[in-house]
Amino acid sequence: MANWFKKWFEKPLDPIGFDCLKTDMHSHLIPAIDDGATSLEDSINMIKALHELGYQKIITTPHVMSDFYKNTPEMILGGLELVRAELQKQNISVELKAAAEYYLDYEFEKKIKTGKLLTFCDNYILVETSFIEAPPNFKELIFQLQLAGYKVILAHPERYPFMSMEDYEDLQSRSVFMQLNLLSLIGYYGADVQNKANKMIEQELISFVGTDCHHMAHAALYEKCQTTRAWHQLVKSRKILNHTL
Ligand SMILES: [Fe+2]
Repeated sequence: MANWFKKWFEKPLDPIGFDCLKTDMHSHLIPAIDDGATSLEDSINMIKALHELGYQKIITTPHVMSDFYKNTPEMILGGLELVRAELQKQNISVELKAAAEYYLDYEFEKKIKTGKLLTFCDNYILVETSFIEAPPNFKELIFQLQLAGYKVILAHPERYPFMSMEDYEDLQSRSVFMQLNLLSLIGYYGADVQNKANKMIEQELISFVGTDCHHMAHAALYEKCQTTRAWHQLVKSRKILNHTL
């Protein structure tokens, strides 16, 4: 890319607030159950920050992994109640719900069979996979979920180095919704991820955007995302479904 073009492309635009999205559907705000919020205070601070950025509704999605974060629906919903009570106490008028970010690992197939998966709105389920490689039965797991009536959303596809544009097109043809992380737009996860994010936006492969907020350092960066050309393009495309949640 020529230098003048790069400078023009990266020149900050007027911010577009997240109120046009209404809802964030990927974050880690339940205290002390994954690598997100460490305390109730931390959780409330992040929720306040997201609310100030324009979100009216937050669907938080703690990690569920067989080895690291063995969170059950009861644990997640118990934590949700704690946070909701504190929001009410502090008069913070944001709607908070909880689901999960399910890691597709060796035990996930069993979890599908129990039927005890946390979903949001119209039976959407948020899933992620390893950053090194997808499980060998990746497509089979997606198919099983869809057969069981779930609408599958793949979290941050742009962050998987092993996935190509052809893979994303294939996932889209399998009715998998793809959720982009806002921080990918500012190069937070590196230039390769940012480039992939831009290409996916160009090709209208993205259906949802998420903050994937883990801590206040993340929260401090979303304002910068609002001034990027890629974010403006996403808003103008009218392809993003967050407002329907
Ligand atoms: Fe996440």
